[in-house]
Amino acid sequence: MCGIVGYIGQVDAKEILLKGLEKLEYRGYDSAGIAVMNEAGVHVFKEVGRIANLRGAVDESVEATAGIGHTRWATHGVPNQSNAHPHQSASGRFTLVHNGVIENYHLLQQEYLQNVTMKSDTDTEVIVQLVEHFANEGLSTDEAFRKTLSLLHGSYALGLLDEQDAETIYVAKNKSPLLVGVGDTFNVIASDAMAMLQVTDQFVELHDEEVVIVKAASVSIEKLDGTKVERAPYTAQLDMSDIEKGTYPHYMLKEIDEQPGVIRKIVSAYTVEDELTIDADIKAALSEADRLYIIAAGTSYHAGLVGKQYFEKMAKIPVEVHIASEFGYNMPLLSEKPLFIFISQSGETADSRQVLVKVKELGYKALTITNVQGSTLSREADYTLLLHAGPEIAVASTKAYVAQVAVLAITAYVEGKSKGLDIDFDLKAELGVAANAIQTIIDKKEEIQQVADAVLATTRNAFFIGRGIDYCVSMEGALKLKEISYIQAEGFAGGELKHGTIALIEEGTPVFALASQKAMSLNVRGNMKEVVARGANPIIISMEGMEEADDSMVLPAVQELLTPLVTVIPLQLISYYAALYRDCDVDKPRNLAKSVTVE
Ligand code: M6R
Repeated sequence: MCGIVGYIGQVDAKEILLKGLEKLEYRGYDSAGIAVMNEAGVHVFKEVGRIANLRGAVDESVEATAGIGHTRWATHGVPNQSNAHPHQSASGRFTLVHNGVIENYHLLQQEYLQNVTMKSDTDTEVIVQLVEHFANEGLSTDEAFRKTLSLLHGSYALGLLDEQDAETIYVAKNKSPLLVGVGDTFNVIASDAMAMLQVTDQFVELHDEEVVIVKAASVSIEKLDGTKVERAPYTAQLDMSDIEKGTYPHYMLKEIDEQPGVIRKIVSAYTVEDELTIDADIKAALSEADRLYIIAAGTSYHAGLVGKQYFEKMAKIPVEVHIASEFGYNMPLLSEKPLFIFISQSGETADSRQVLVKVKELGYKALTITNVQGSTLSREADYTLLLHAGPEIAVASTKAYVAQVAVLAITAYVEGKSKGLDIDFDLKAELGVAANAIQTIIDKKEEIQQVADAVLATTRNAFFIGRGIDYCVSMEGALKLKEISYIQAEGFAGGELKHGTIALIEEGTPVFALASQKAMSLNVRGNMKEVVARGANPIIISMEGMEEADDSMVLPAVQELLTPLVTVIPLQLISYYAALYRDCDVDKPRNLAKSVTVE
């Protein structure tokens, strides 16, 4: 989604802004721009497409020590140059970047800006025109900015320049993420610390409805009502090497390869005195709950489906798993003592956040499982469990999924053990076995590439089937394939195909089947016979000890509940190679954003 950067200090801002935007590219965008400000005024450069295009458009001779930048993921108005940010007020005095959606922009336009000719189709332009409208009525910039903010309904992270004051960036946030980074002789703003790690690792979190005056030598935070806020910076626990590709051609491949290490890191992070453990207050919250409600989107939702199996089988707690964007507006009847679990790699997903806000209003407790410490969903929940996966840059989630499944397994296992339930395996040891199994699969990636090239090179669609926990992974496999290779792909419960979907099977249609569950392996193989009889091209992925002669891949055996950690790996690699074969932009698939900060 949209990303924001800003710099005010002693050196030329252009390169810092452009590098910052490059670090935000992973979030997904379709146009980008920067505005730099010096005593002569504000200079705006914007382009459709990649940051490389923007670089080409920037006038190198303009020197300025303050500026703001933006990557835009279109919501209101098509991706073109006039809709790209920064946007300027009618006179050009004010310049603004915005991440979020202003729901009442049209009403505000009708009420205050009838006489202003709009230059774009965006909701954002209304904000900057309103600031000028109120400044023209005699308010100071600070007052005009606050007055404007008080009228906005929706989500925003904002950076505003006033060409009459080259020493200030006006900043505000509501629902959309934004950080201030602090330095000795400069200060910066960024949607994500990664963007400004190039100049500082000291960041201050901003909360909703805060207004910040950022100057080279000071940062002043206030609430909208004028109350001063004191908040110390934290040190971002990120290393530049974590966010570089190194020798890998794509982040996605690097992140797939990191998965054995991620599992080992999680085991170590959740081990105390040689035993897996989670915080006592989280255990207490789980024990008190009569039902868990898992809320998530996309890949995190698929991890939640696996989590349901874990909590029900290991901790004996009933679980409902809900798509975040559906739950908030169609809330089911809740149990008497619900506990909400939000699963989100980014911790910023707006669909999940709107549910969390409602859940908190209702007075229920919430646990967030996320990869990003200090993210909105983490800050606003009662408890957090971290994924320890390291930054995930590729839009397609891989290592975060595996981390989510591992953390869910640990949480359910620890809770089950603390209740004295009979769990007949040692999860810590079994996670080690799973990490080794993943490594074995990764080491044979060339074989998986051959399968992908052979069956997915030209197909227009593909199906993934499984039963039980394999069905959960089938859905994830299908999502991975469609999002990066643009092949129409669907995941189905094996037994459900014959109730309609089998009509789509044609000569050569690839059907991937997961057969990792003893009790259901024969059934899923039976389902494969049904599709093969109708011309499908079958790819059966099984486990050692359950394999049959014609299986396409036989994965190392792991504890049966932990199979999602390993069966997903060939599906991730198959998607990667299919996208590569089809010349798709693997890390930045079209129309998608990494951090989905609008509902
Ligand atoms: O950051 P989140 O885990 O909340 O994101 C949820 C989905 O947007 C995300 O999992 C998405 O489906 C992935 N790009 C899929 O690979």
